[in-house]
Parts: sequence; structure tokens; C-alpha cells
Amino acid sequence: MSAFRTLDQADVAGKRVLVRVDLNVPMENGRITDLTRLERVEATIREIAGKSGKVILLSHFGRPKGPDPAQSLRPVAQALADIVGRPIAFADDCIGPQAEAAVAALQPGDILCLENTRFHKGEEKNDPAFVAALAKLGDIWVNDAFSAAHRAHASTEGLGHKLPAYAGRTMQAELDALARALEAPQRPLAAIVGGAKISTKLDLLGNLVAKVDSLIIGGGMANTFLAAEGKKVGKSLAEHDLAATAREIAAKAKARPCEIVLPVDAVVAPEFKAHVPSRVVGIDAVGADDMILDIGPRSIEHAVSVLARTKTLVWNGPFGAFELEPFDIGTIEVAEAAAELTEAGDIVSVAGGGDTVAALNKAGVADRFSYVSTAGGAFLEWLEGKALPGVEVLRV
Ligand code: 3PG
Ligand code: MG
Repeated sequence: MSAFRTLDQADVAGKRVLVRVDLNVPMENGRITDLTRLERVEATIREIAGKSGKVILLSHFGRPKGPDPAQSLRPVAQALADIVGRPIAFADDCIGPQAEAAVAALQPGDILCLENTRFHKGEEKNDPAFVAALAKLGDIWVNDAFSAAHRAHASTEGLGHKLPAYAGRTMQAELDALARALEAPQRPLAAIVGGAKISTKLDLLGNLVAKVDSLIIGGGMANTFLAAEGKKVGKSLAEHDLAATAREIAAKAKARPCEIVLPVDAVVAPEFKAHVPSRVVGIDAVGADDMILDIGPRSIEHAVSVLARTKTLVWNGPFGAFELEPFDIGTIEVAEAAAELTEAGDIVSVAGGGDTVAALNKAGVADRFSYVSTAGGAFLEWLEGKALPGVEVLRV
């Protein structure tokens, strides 16, 4: 972690500390459906308040086109206050007289949350005037929002050029875990990449075959690779137009060498519906009317045997159509095996990105992995080997 300034180097006592957090939690009918992101920022908030800093929280919420009461951070700030166990004041704007008055009223150790930064166009444009208006409110900037670090926005990046900048504890833990997983991993290193399409993950696959020792491919994406090898995949989701691309990735892997692990059997059904009659077939026996909806038992065994000779695992994306039973079995069983190997101290396991956390939660193993990132797009860009602006600005 020496490459980044952290809270260890920050003197926060009596200072106005602008803390960029990611309060962009999933909400349905006005209720927060997953509190993980709020729980993750608690440590940084407590530490700064405990050291007599004045905590000023900045975050976006949703993708508003301008001020929109339906995308106010007020209810999220309330939920966060319940988690932190301390009152959190709220200001209806993140810049200007209201924000300035709310900041001026803070005592050391107080916590204030400012309204959704995306209510101002200057946020996403990283507009210097908006950055300056935010910077006026603070003495130092702490970025604890890895999951928004792929955005070069005013509150995620711009402020880092205007104020002394530090990584918060969650950002620090995230960077630590990611470094252990891909930058300086113990080998052998395996990656599991699942999900529907390779078209959205071409850069990611390209970067991974250059780095990992084994690449286990699942989900609809595996069908594209199988079809490219000339296998029949019936009615399964597959991007037949990307056959050449899939072959190129496979050739690049072979040259390194990186072992590509594809399913050897599959659970197939006539349609994508819960509890439709399904059966297990060898990968050479998929019928013209079959849809591949999960990996089969021999593929599960194969994946687990690869993990058993691995020291580090990076996981992104489910194996099958995990949201429908019984097509969640492949994901659940491999995840369970990864959790057991982690608990035995045999592997370091890091997972993240979009559906992955939901899948691992469903498998009941998320808290048994070494680290589960709450980042979606940022985790994917990191797997692609891209520099994240909100991280780069924290480098010493
Ligand atoms: C996320 O939910 O992935 C982050 O909060 C970033 O949100 P965005 O994709 O709207 O920038
Ligand atoms: Mg997103």
C-alpha cells in the first residue's frame, strides 16, 4: 500500500474532511435492498470522527439528469446514520450557501451528508468551477469509493488535484485485496469468468489470459467458446459472430500458456424457465432444441479440481442461469468449494462485479471469501487492466 496516501498520513483533527463515499445503494419502492456499501464506509467515517475531524460525505445516487427529489440522498443518509450509530446532518445541496452553512455549523467529530453530487452537471463533466465550489467546503479529501473510481468526475477525481488526497479504509482494503489477487498473486492463479456474453468482456478476457494460469469460463460466454470449437450448442445463448474472436483468445492463452477450462457437460432444458424438466448431457450431446443453462456435475468437479491446485482465485460472473433454480447449482457448488479452500487457508479468493456478489450471496458464501468487492463497473475495468482515475489520483 505504500504507493497510496492513506488515513495513516492524514492529520484530520479539527479539519473539514470531504469524504467521497459510494452511497449508490440498490433501492426498490423506496427501500434499500442491500446495505453492504453503507456498512463498508462505516470504518472510515468512525475513524475520522473519532480523531475529531469534521466528516463531510459526498456521493452520487442513481443517474439523475438534474435535481430530482426521487434520487435524493436524504433517506440513504438516514440509513447510514442507523449503521454508524451517530446522527448525520443533511444539506439539500452539495455546493453553495446551504452546503457552506451546514459545514460551518459542524463541530469536530460531527458528520454531515451533502445532497447527490449528480444534481449538478459539473459533477460528471469534472468541471473546474464545480470542483472549486466543492473544494471550498473542505481542507482535505478522502476517497473511500473504489466502486466509483472508474469515473473521472469532480467528486471522485477532480478534488484530488485541489486538496491533499488520501485513500479511506475501504479503498485501502480494496486496493490491497486487488493487488494480492492480480498484481502480485501467489501462483498458480486462476480466474473464473462467467456471465452471458463475451462481447462485453473482450478486454477483460484478453487481460486475464495474459496474467492467469487457468481461466475457467462459465455462463453463456462458455457457449460462444464451445461453438467456436465446432461444438453444437443448440438453442443456447451464444455469440456465433464472435467465433473468430473466441478462437483468438484461445490461441493467445495456448501460447502463454494459460489453461482454458470449458464445460465438459451441461444441464440443458427446452426453455429458460424455473423448474422446467432438465437433464445432464455430455458437451458433445447437446441437442438442436436444447438450451444450456448450467454446467453439469463433471464440469463442477473439474472446476473444483483446478481450484484445489490453485493458490489465488479471482471470480467474476456466475456459471449458469443462477437466478433460476435449479440452474444455480454449478455456481453454488463451485463457490462452496472456493469458500472451503479459503477457510482452510489454501487459497486467497477475491470476487466482484455486477451479478457476482448477488450470486455469492445466494450461495451463502460471500463472507467466507477473502474479499468481495461491492464494485460493478470499477471491478470490471480493473480486471481489464485499466487505470482507474479515482485511484490514480491517490498515488504518491
Ligand atoms: C456503481 O453502482 O457501479 C457505482 O456507484 C457507479 O455508478 P455509475 O455506473 O452510475 O457511475
Ligand atoms: Mg453501475
